[in-house]
Amino acid sequence: MTSPLNEPYRLESLPLDTPDDDPRWAQFLDTIRSPLLAARAGDAGQRVFRDHRRAGGARLRMVTAEGPGLEGRVPVAGFNSSDRVVNTGTAELGVLAIETIGVRASHRRRGLLTVLMVEALGEARERGLPLAALSASEAGIYGRFGFAPADSWRHIDVDTRRLAFRPGVEVAGGTLELVAPNSVKEQVAGLFAAHRARHHGSVAPGHGDVLVISGQWDASAQGPSSTLRHLAHFDDDGTLDGLATFTPRQLDDPPMTAEVGMVLAADPAVERALWRGLASIDLIDVLSYDQPNADDSLDWSLVDRRAVRMTRSHDHMWLRILDLPTAAAGRSFAGAGSITLTVDDKLGFCAGSWLLEVADGRAVCTRAEPDDPAAPEVRVGVDTLAGLWLGGTAPSTMVDAGRVAGDDEALAVFSTIFSSTGQPRNLSWF
Ligand SMILES: CC(C)(COP(=O)(O)OP(=O)(O)OC[C@H]1O[C@@H](n2cnc3c(N)ncnc32)[C@H](O)[C@@H]1OP(=O)(O)O)[C@@H](O)C(=O)NCCC(=O)NCCS
Repeated sequence: MTSPLNEPYRLESLPLDTPDDDPRWAQFLDTIRSPLLAARAGDAGQRVFRDHRRAGGARLRMVTAEGPGLEGRVPVAGFNSSDRVVNTGTAELGVLAIETIGVRASHRRRGLLTVLMVEALGEARERGLPLAALSASEAGIYGRFGFAPADSWRHIDVDTRRLAFRPGVEVAGGTLELVAPNSVKEQVAGLFAAHRARHHGSVAPGHGDVLVISGQWDASAQGPSSTLRHLAHFDDDGTLDGLATFTPRQLDDPPMTAEVGMVLAADPAVERALWRGLASIDLIDVLSYDQPNADDSLDWSLVDRRAVRMTRSHDHMWLRILDLPTAAAGRSFAGAGSITLTVDDKLGFCAGSWLLEVADGRAVCTRAEPDDPAAPEVRVGVDTLAGLWLGGTAPSTMVDAGRVAGDDEALAVFSTIFSSTGQPRNLSWF
């Protein structure tokens, strides 16, 4: 990698085949943990990091420096990403999942994030990935790189005594069983794949997520979890088709609470069976859940929708479009018509004028001729397109927010064409 930085900085990578005892593993890991105010990882944490980064085929970029107080040339900024796939409606598209970014406090605001980001996005685009995604510690950082929130999460507290489904709402039959973690660890990836096949916005999990969900790694225990429980759902043929994880937390002081880690099932009727199973566990008054997809179908399925109390909500996955024609071909469109999009993109990937033609839910996006009168025209930022790409925000909301420019007819066509076939349902955190 040639470095675009001046001394003392150098842009480098940490190859995955770096020997385990190379001190750069620990240095890199601490470089991304310390800015997020996390403790230093112990030996077990470092081993898990190495294993799961290797298993996930990660790319570890870093900026190194040397100088007073530094023991030789060491990483001062780290950028940790891997390739995943996301269902965008008509296809599974490749997405660069940016999992962790950190710049040492003593080297911040010198452009290190910018260099790492520009290099990583450019390289991902060259490799053919049409999308990139991350979750943001603060909302003011990533818009400048073309990202915008594409879905959201919410925290809910579910009152187990009041959880009852409306008559006529299907709750899957089959069997619920509390199972040993070992019995599900090989099947978590398959459950995610089934979820992804059915729901747009669903992103493949990272290798580390599978470790956590299956109880093989608990960061606070620095080893396998001794507290995580697994409630599995089996269909009438005895095939596993859903999994909920939970940890009893507050048992001395009512209300007694279990923290739900994940409710994972492709079929919403199976999800409901898992919720009913969780709510039926004796002694638990409240199920507390950071629901990664702020989808409120659970609320609507209940007799008493206030059994679900949302205490906060937040943007979740921030998306970036790197290749507009490929991204458009993979998106499902509820509307139809043609529009000329003049896209502002400071990094250049999607900049310029495009003709988007949509019929039967599918789009073809080609370069528009200059002053092509073929279709009404809007001007839009690449981040605004990202924000509505998965259906988490309606195009009319972006128009109302003043983020799309055009005459009334063009704005109406834009809102119609980009209307979505549903809310994104993404269960992956990164
Ligand atoms: C956020 C962080 C990665 C930024 O790294 P950095 O090397 O200081 O960023 P850069 O110097 O490349 O800044 C790029 C631009 O982003 C802006 N920026 C950086 N951090 C920002 C923040 N927290 N809020 C608002 N703007 C920010 C800079 O002002 C600069 O703006 P400009 O393009 O108008 O000049 C780094 O400060 C950090 O590690 N923070 C703590 C951990 C964290 O939040 N990690 C991100 C996890 S998603």
